[in-house]
Amino acid sequence: GITRHYKFDIKLQNVTRLCQTKSIVTVNGQFPGPRIIAREGDTVLVNVVNHVQYNVTLHWHGVRQLRSGWADGPAYITQCPIQTGQAYVYNFTITGQRGTLFWHAHISWLRVTVYGPIIILPKRHVPYPFPQPYKEVPIIFGEWWKTDTETLISQALQTGGAPNVSDAFTINGLPGPLYKSCSVKDTFKLKVKPGKTYLLRLINAALNDELFFSIANHTLTVVEADAVYVKPFKTTTVLITPGQTTNVLLHTKHHHFPNTTFLMAARSYATGPGAFDNTTTAAILQYQHRHLLSSSTTSATKLLLKPKLPFFNNTNFATIFSKKIRSLANSKFPINIPKRIDRRFFFTVGLGLTPCSKNQNCQGPNNTKLTATINNVSFVQPNTALLQAHFFNQSKGVYTTDFPANPLVKFNYTGTPPSNIMATSGTKVVVLPFNTRVELVMQDTSIIGAESHPLHLHGFNFFVVGQGFGNFDPNKDPAKFNLVDPAERNTVGVPSGGWVAIRFRADNPGVWFMHCHLEVHTSWGLKMAWVVMDGKRPNQKLPPPPSDLPKC
Ligand code: C2O
Repeated sequence: GITRHYKFDIKLQNVTRLCQTKSIVTVNGQFPGPRIIAREGDTVLVNVVNHVQYNVTLHWHGVRQLRSGWADGPAYITQCPIQTGQAYVYNFTITGQRGTLFWHAHISWLRVTVYGPIIILPKRHVPYPFPQPYKEVPIIFGEWWKTDTETLISQALQTGGAPNVSDAFTINGLPGPLYKSCSVKDTFKLKVKPGKTYLLRLINAALNDELFFSIANHTLTVVEADAVYVKPFKTTTVLITPGQTTNVLLHTKHHHFPNTTFLMAARSYATGPGAFDNTTTAAILQYQHRHLLSSSTTSATKLLLKPKLPFFNNTNFATIFSKKIRSLANSKFPINIPKRIDRRFFFTVGLGLTPCSKNQNCQGPNNTKLTATINNVSFVQPNTALLQAHFFNQSKGVYTTDFPANPLVKFNYTGTPPSNIMATSGTKVVVLPFNTRVELVMQDTSIIGAESHPLHLHGFNFFVVGQGFGNFDPNKDPAKFNLVDPAERNTVGVPSGGWVAIRFRADNPGVWFMHCHLEVHTSWGLKMAWVVMDGKRPNQKLPPPPSDLPKC
């Protein structure tokens, strides 16, 4: 591979959406941010220079970072933040991955405006395992708030109440025509030719919402998820959680539709009634005119077609869709799934309550505030980076290695809230020897409200071997696991009122964050870290940090 250089200047920029101008944090003044394009095997160097008054880190979401954990980016996990006026060069090589991923700020809620696509092309002269598209188009979903980011964060953290919803969802940074809009510039427009194949690279960079996406009168063929090829299947709607990426083929119709506008639209999938915004963002799919049609033709009656999206709480659709995603698992793209398991973990993921101090304005019952936990532990962000502490053997006072392998309070899903939902807190990790084969079952507690949690693991792809509703049954359910062609991904929705089982091999030394990709839940503590020890051979060890690694 070759080396590709990028310069990312973090700076403020005035941006107008929903009839209002505000100053936002951007990369190079762009919103959404610039694309990173590389081929499998290339090395990417991103020189990030911080010109704003906030601390910044960037994360290359889904990039495996094999032995390059120093470039992973989550603040206080793998690095201290890049402070005002400082710079840091993220240096990583893309190994064994091709497809769509994305990058985003990984500190506080800064990723609300700081994100952009990562496009990994196959190695030179290696074709896609699907028809070569005529054109490739990134479609990146986001959220837009009229309030400034700081207000947003303090609202989410201090009151511990319901998350405040965004004012709009966006497609490529634009809310689209279904919102009260001030200019046509607020809508993303994709002009297509008839009879062609387009590759849409869908990215959910939204903070707090899983999304349904659909295009009026068109069918989509899913070919890739989280930068792993999948068995192609057709669908009218795609479900995509925050942190997930999905490549779909769009075959355009064979005729011109000079007077028809097809909407592509996305709306929240939320199982909790009223918990989230259920407005709709849209972009326009328009067939290009054949040569220069006279303006009289174009002013003929216009037809606007809207797609039918599943109802916002259609869990049935969501479940069926997730199960359709299967690895290719053929001789060209075999899967490398651990068949035997060294360590098993059972994690409950969900919300809980912690006691509230007097001066806080808490909204929970009996003087409590909402918190979010894994195995009843709400993760406390340290003041220094875990990876440095681990690498230099200075973990004392930074983290403890007693993250529980099972919930602290035995969990039994009954469909109604259990009585004990009080949480403890701490900076706790699980230590894994190099190459440990891990099976992890995550059970959604659905204690308050009912929502699924998109769990994201840094540093690895994992195999989704099973999912179900109600209690996970360790005696019966493993017999039904798919070890033949399970989806391989970096983010999975743990279904409301149910569970998922994943497997991965801890072959990447370092400290790897795992968290709910709903930003509000990450803030509330639904996160933990795995410390993967070095192996014996030189190519199984984490190299020392780069000299420009920021200090806390
Ligand atoms: Cu996309 Cu830890 O994040």
